[in-house]
Amino acid sequence: MSKQVISTPVIRRLPRYYRFLGDLEHEKVERISSRELALRMGLSASQIRQDFNCFGGFGQQGYGYHVKELREIIGGILGVREKTGVILIGAGNLGKAIAAHVDFQKCGCSLIGIFDSDPLLAGTSTAGIPIMPMETLDSFCRQHKPSVAVLCIPKEAAQTLVEILISYGIGGFWNFSHFDLRVNNPDVIVENVHLGDSLMTLAFCMHQE
Ligand code: NAI
Repeated sequence: MSKQVISTPVIRRLPRYYRFLGDLEHEKVERISSRELALRMGLSASQIRQDFNCFGGFGQQGYGYHVKELREIIGGILGVREKTGVILIGAGNLGKAIAAHVDFQKCGCSLIGIFDSDPLLAGTSTAGIPIMPMETLDSFCRQHKPSVAVLCIPKEAAQTLVEILISYGIGGFWNFSHFDLRVNNPDVIVENVHLGDSLMTLAFCMHQE
């Protein structure tokens, strides 16, 4: 497979390809043409071919794509078979919902610890995982070496905490704290998530109609 720099829009489409191919596999579809896949996904066939060409192209002329194989290859690129250690900070409404409803395993991650500064939460658990006090975060990170942190804390707390987490070895942040984190460290990856942005995009498109 040829190696080249992959653009962010292509990378952002990969989980969607992975999900659609999973549905196809579930429907026992063995192979699919770029045209059929494009129709299902609301993309153009040339877009799909272009995207897959970034990774060396997976299809065969006149045959299309082998669904299971293609899903495995994309899964490999996305690292879904890896077990990235994840901690979640902030076990409030959002944190509990994420812990309970996000399928971390499916994404190549494993939620191994939940932390909160509220002493009333220490010793309770959510999604079967005990909530630990922040005082134990340092030793937990040294022992279990998580590499990703999910931030479900108020935005005022986020930036300071991020610096601390980086010093504990965290290299990736899934940040829900309504604050666009910026980290001046090229080795640290931040994914800021704002559900409201998505809703606002929908509302805008509705008004355009
Ligand atoms: P919440 O008040 O129910 O939970 C926040 C939790 O964080 C509490 O348990 C609190 O004790 C803990 N906490 C506060 N400061 C902390 C610190 N320094 N270290 C560790 N734990 C700390 O709030 P909720 O509803 O769960 O929301 C959490 C955050 O997520 C808020 O900033 C909210 O605005 C944001 N949010 C973001 C969304 C998005 O789409 N990005 C959607 C919904 C909420």
